[in-house]
Amino acid sequence: MKILAFAGSTRTGSFNKKLVRIAADGAREAGAEVTLIDLRDFPMPLYDGDLEASSGLPEHAKRFKHLMIDHHGLLIATPEYNSSITGVLKNAIDWASREESDDEPPLVAFRGKTAALVSASPGGFGATRSLRHVRGILVHMGVYLMPESVSISAAYEAFDEQGALKDAAKQKAAAAIGAKLAEFTRKLAL
Ligand code: FNR
Repeated sequence: MKILAFAGSTRTGSFNKKLVRIAADGAREAGAEVTLIDLRDFPMPLYDGDLEASSGLPEHAKRFKHLMIDHHGLLIATPEYNSSITGVLKNAIDWASREESDDEPPLVAFRGKTAALVSASPGGFGATRSLRHVRGILVHMGVYLMPESVSISAAYEAFDEQGALKDAAKQKAAAAIGAKLAEFTRKLAL
């Protein structure tokens, strides 16, 4: 069982990168094979229909899409920009949703996958508004989303130097989301 984990932020000190790492460790401890990626390593142009028509999917969009295809579950940490999903995350989803040939099934990188979401922000809501938007997008794409999620507010003071959550209960809850995704994915595969 393979889980692809990433944050919707490219920022070096991203709170969501820290959070997804904790959840990814939880999934690993529960027996999943986890691939943790950084979207910074997948620089994609903004989706452009003319670019797609002339040269197909850009190299890094293709790499990202095929990683998704190769994994059963998705673990995503979503930041919040202006009460919604970040451009980086939406752009990656948009490119990965595109078909590369006429005989490719629609939304092959999404349909039937499992997913769990976590979120973090320096604000008081912990990016829960973006969580709702990402959930809405993925559900419509045929992804089976786990109902549970974890959101970290006041993220600027939530993590220690090693990247763990200072609050032991939150650290446990974030790792548990990864573990639950592993279990959920295993059950769905039966
Ligand atoms: C933000 N930020 C933000 N935070 C929030 O809780 N709600 C919001 O609506 C917004 N809006 C917003 C818009 C833009 C354009 C930026 C750049 C930032 C702050 C945001 O949560 C903060 O930069 C986080 O640190 C982003 O997540 P990472 O990069 O730490 O994972």
